[in-house]
Amino acid sequence: MHVRRHVIHLVTVAVSLALLTGAAVVGWAWKTSLLPDSYDVTSYGYHDYGGGAVPAEAAAHGLHHAHVGTSVARLHGPTGVPDVRFRLVAQRTTIRLASGQKVEALTFDGRAPGPELRVRQGDLVEVTLVNRDVEPGVTIHWHGVDLPNAEDGVAGVTQDAVLPGASHTYRFRAEQHGTFWYHSHESSSTQVDRGLFGALVIEPRQSQTAETLDLAIVSHVFDGTDTINGVPGVQHRRVAPGSDVRLRLVNADDNPKGFLLSGTRFRVLAIDGTDLTGPTPLERTTLELAAGGRYDVGFTMPDRPVALRVEGTPALLALSKDGRTVAPIEQGVTTTFDPLGYGEPSETPFDAQSTFQRRFRLEIGRKPGFLDGKPGMQWTINGGIYPDVPMLMVERGDLVLLEIVNSTSKVHPMHLHGHHALVLSRDGRPLTGSPWWTDTLDVQPGERYELAFRADNPGLWMEHCHNLGHAAAGLTMHLGYVGVTTPFRTGGDAHNHPE
Ligand code: C2O
Ligand code: CU
Repeated sequence: MHVRRHVIHLVTVAVSLALLTGAAVVGWAWKTSLLPDSYDVTSYGYHDYGGGAVPAEAAAHGLHHAHVGTSVARLHGPTGVPDVRFRLVAQRTTIRLASGQKVEALTFDGRAPGPELRVRQGDLVEVTLVNRDVEPGVTIHWHGVDLPNAEDGVAGVTQDAVLPGASHTYRFRAEQHGTFWYHSHESSSTQVDRGLFGALVIEPRQSQTAETLDLAIVSHVFDGTDTINGVPGVQHRRVAPGSDVRLRLVNADDNPKGFLLSGTRFRVLAIDGTDLTGPTPLERTTLELAAGGRYDVGFTMPDRPVALRVEGTPALLALSKDGRTVAPIEQGVTTTFDPLGYGEPSETPFDAQSTFQRRFRLEIGRKPGFLDGKPGMQWTINGGIYPDVPMLMVERGDLVLLEIVNSTSKVHPMHLHGHHALVLSRDGRPLTGSPWWTDTLDVQPGERYELAFRADNPGLWMEHCHNLGHAAAGLTMHLGYVGVTTPFRTGGDAHNHPE
């Protein structure tokens, strides 16, 4: 009797608590969940100064009202005569895959992927984007290129989307070298899916090696069909034994992708456009590449054939001396490449022992709530649903520690614009191999990464999940430099929808 009464009592308490907190959550979420018709990205969420200095001006007026400030529009690339010029026309195109399948695509120059752009380190690059007929507009973001903010191509943050019939010119100096890619950052979850992307390769100022086959491999799923450079199934390439081969893998999808190389040992030469030091030969190892990430792999072409497979799909690049043979899949592939302990340690400009001016922690979670008035299970950052997310505030020159924790059951490829971050540790285990610089980092369920970066590129920079569906569902934030403002507006009725 006694026991039963207690149980009933406990149940009553639990139910009323749930109702109370539920009501509080719903009431709160309702208040903050309707996005205004258009808004300045610096005005939503809350400013997180990461324990560092809070400038008096920003504290007193709010960043977006700062009287003295630099508009992102002024943070543009260099003037002068470009070393190399491109023109990319965005248009609606029906493409036909090699399998005969028709895809209603959005393309650059009528192709998906768009043309591979190749430049040399040090070049002043000029690209004119022409939008023929893509609604509601188009931009080009140079993924992984740490360029001046106004050239970053984010609709509603660094520019207005380029409307049908209009054009826009990007200019930047290619200071880095490596593998990058470009894609629209207007309605990106739709436009990248439909084909508005391509590879950007920046060759080193002096090529150290005379690679005889240097190929960008852009993988993407079009309407359910896996492709390599837009080709489904097997594609052949004739390569002479002894040739140096460099394959630049780019994952242009929303999910991680496994690549499997058979017929040769290989090295991972670079990650996210940054060379590794002392890479050692690998075999029977799957390369699992984050959505938006890049791995460069290199090997000397053996006498026998080599095959690059997109795991679990028929997409395959066959390299052989006769241009006809496909290397068999290797048995006993058990390892997945882990950059945390690969290659040789070498000097870095900062490390875990450095003094950090700002420390940020981002915990990705999930909870029921409202996103723009619609109920559902929502992504959260530090417990808040977009737009109730932090804006990471820094000042130029700060050394920043960024901790990312994934408390969800899905992988999140976190991408920071305009900067490369050094991985310090994963789940408390420090990096032991080559310095690992990243711009797009897969954070697996339950994982915790510590990253460090130098705030050396003033502007307003997106920090978001590169599962673009997740980004559109609220996994989006910004890194802001104190005093930088934007004249552009995002959201609602504005035609700028970066996600
Ligand atoms: Cu690949 Cu925000 O971008
Ligand atoms: Cu995600």
